[in-house]
Amino acid sequence: MNPLVEAMALALTASPSISLVAFYGIPTFVLALLYLLARRHRPKFALPCPPGPKSPNMPSLDPWVTYQEWGRVYGDLVYIQEMNMLIISSSQAAVDLLEKRARIYSDRETSSAIMVSQVDRIMSVQRYSNKWRRHRKFFHQSFRQSACSRFYPAQYRKINDLLRNLAVTPEQFMQHTMAFSQSLMYATLYGLDIGSEDPLLRKAESVINTFGDLMFPGFPSLERFPWLRYMPSSFPGCGFQRVVKKFIQNLDDLDAIPFDRAVENLKNGAGTSLIAELALEKPMEVDMIKAMGTTSFVAASDTTTSSISSFLLTVTLHPEVQVKAQAEIDRVIGRDRLPTFEDRKSLLYIEGIYREIMRLHPPGPLAINHVSTEDDFYNGYHIPKGCVVVPNIWAMNRDPNVYPDPDKFMPERYLDSPDGPFTNINDVYAFGFGRRVCVGRYMAENTVWLTIASIMATFDLCKAKDDGGDEIDIPEEYTQTFFRHPKPYQSCIKPRDQQALELILRATE
Ligand code: HEM
Repeated sequence: MNPLVEAMALALTASPSISLVAFYGIPTFVLALLYLLARRHRPKFALPCPPGPKSPNMPSLDPWVTYQEWGRVYGDLVYIQEMNMLIISSSQAAVDLLEKRARIYSDRETSSAIMVSQVDRIMSVQRYSNKWRRHRKFFHQSFRQSACSRFYPAQYRKINDLLRNLAVTPEQFMQHTMAFSQSLMYATLYGLDIGSEDPLLRKAESVINTFGDLMFPGFPSLERFPWLRYMPSSFPGCGFQRVVKKFIQNLDDLDAIPFDRAVENLKNGAGTSLIAELALEKPMEVDMIKAMGTTSFVAASDTTTSSISSFLLTVTLHPEVQVKAQAEIDRVIGRDRLPTFEDRKSLLYIEGIYREIMRLHPPGPLAINHVSTEDDFYNGYHIPKGCVVVPNIWAMNRDPNVYPDPDKFMPERYLDSPDGPFTNINDVYAFGFGRRVCVGRYMAENTVWLTIASIMATFDLCKAKDDGGDEIDIPEEYTQTFFRHPKPYQSCIKPRDQQALELILRATE
């Protein structure tokens, strides 16, 4: 007989009270034990996925705002089951998952459109793979913090050009900002002076625009019928083939034209540059060097334009900030010279402006999607493998628990905080997270910071006036693009005074 049953039979024949306890107690105890064991070994997959709206209409306008609202309703993690998509609204969860568990949250999405258009030459799009690791390491060597001083001379020169252009034709301030951000990359990496009329810039713009289309929403016909990629362009539904062909041609040109010019300049003694030196040092790595140049251009031009444009707009709308910024610069630097990188640690209020611009107006409010490569469990939730993870930087940067009065532009908030404004660059969430964090962030930060300091030192930014002398309202509207920019508006940008104008003109003599 089974010993457990035998023991129960014995107990029943002993005293009635003992037998009752044994009769009910032992099975209850065994059941409880089994239940506890089962709970302990319950597959974690039985944990629920984070909550979220069922079959929601995905927003096409300002999705970060809708996602922020969902975050308020459902919590820091919002899961859209139909899309296996997780939206993260708190910096704590972003750090816990994308940084501390970066090993499994560093992949990118892929699609037929990406494969067919070879757009994965651009590092930001590459899967988490050995190819990406090679590119990222290579990139890092040239863009790490200690290597960035190499870019200073070109950054000073191009920022001075921007100041001059703003002084001469201030009404074209938006074009100047865009031209500055584009030509800066060619100056810093290739040692080239690319004018705003250079056909290379038209190709570059075309690549950037098509790049956006390829990433989102791609080519619907191709996603549904991947075999269409093998059909001729005349086949119904294959119009994408022409777009792809032109895109690849432009991408090849973007890889080759500035590279060849830079190498030529080095060979004939016309000037050196990072790209040309790398090409001579590492002839076996020419493809990777070209890809680094093109990736930098694509990753930097819209983001830099967006940050500087947001600064111009926001400070125009906050004259009181401008007064404080100019007072700080006059006190620390004086009026006889322009700011330099060495001044940064002495300009606390300017730092506050930089941090506030990146907080309130991250160029890409949703960064770039990460993808998980393993099932994961966090705070009692299951996050399935292959999940598309969207860091909602917009919401993180407006968390009222971290930033009181979060929608307010308030550079002094950093001065009042115990850490001051010079915290780690990793606190600037606009640059993303973990192993995929922006690899060009030190250079980007230098550019945006020095531009802010130089403009504050030399210009007054105010609202334009109409014929009757009344100020023209600025609606503070932004584009609906992947990298958001202020929409065109009228403003009045003028040198602070004759002394400032002379300083600007002297700097570009
Ligand atoms: C204000 C300017 C910039 C901003 C706000 C910015 C922001 C970002 C963001 C949000 C990401 C995605 C991070 C993630 O996936 O978590 C990113 C990736 C990247 N950025 Fe930037 N960026 C800027 C300028 C630059 C510059 C100047 C360069 C190069 C010179 C650059 C190169 C890259 C590259 C190569 C990646 C892809 C990294 C990877 O996938 O491993 N960015 N950037």
